[in-house]
Amino acid sequence: MADPVALVLRFFHIAFGIAWIGAMMYGVGVLRRALAQVDMPARKETMRRLIPILTQYLPGSAAMTILFGFVLYLWMGAFEPAVLVETAWGRTLIAALVLALTAFGIGLGVGVRGARGMLVHLNEEACTHGPEVAALQKRFNMSQFAGLGLGLLIVALMVVATETGF
Ligand code: HEM
Repeated sequence: MADPVALVLRFFHIAFGIAWIGAMMYGVGVLRRALAQVDMPARKETMRRLIPILTQYLPGSAAMTILFGFVLYLWMGAFEPAVLVETAWGRTLIAALVLALTAFGIGLGVGVRGARGMLVHLNEEACTHGPEVAALQKRFNMSQFAGLGLGLLIVALMVVATETGF
């Protein structure tokens, strides 16, 4: 019979993983391209509304994906070091954990910080810091691409771990 604890952990892990990496793919593949065609005042207003939500939603869904993934890893490995660190399955998941924490760190340190910096300027009555905003925008974009690249690599590791088993 299927293990109900593993089923619940797997469900939430996958659901939050979709929320996290899905939002990154949507941001890069849809939102960025659509916003590029919007005139400047409307774009600024959209960013002003988007940033406070985005900077909570992305770190939240990322943290929950990692948390549920880590607990699932411990649970499936029965908390046995021999399974968790000495098998190909365990090592694949440790690699995924390191990459996920790196993506999370880049997201917080570069993405969220950059976005909050942009928000300060967007909220100014008459902002005269064009070059600073452009630099923040560049950092924000870079973190989006880096996060998405790492996210896809992690998904590939998930496929390998699921296929390999232990
Ligand atoms: C970008 C982040 C991640 C995403 C999108 C993601 C997504 C997924 C998906 C789609 C599966 C396949 C489930 C299945 O076929 O049943 C899976 C399995 C799994 N993930 Fe993740 N994952 C992520 C990060 C992590 C991290 C950091 C860990 C912690 C070590 C982790 C631990 C696991 C475990 C233990 C499994 C089950 C593997 C197995 O069935 O052998 N995941 N994940």
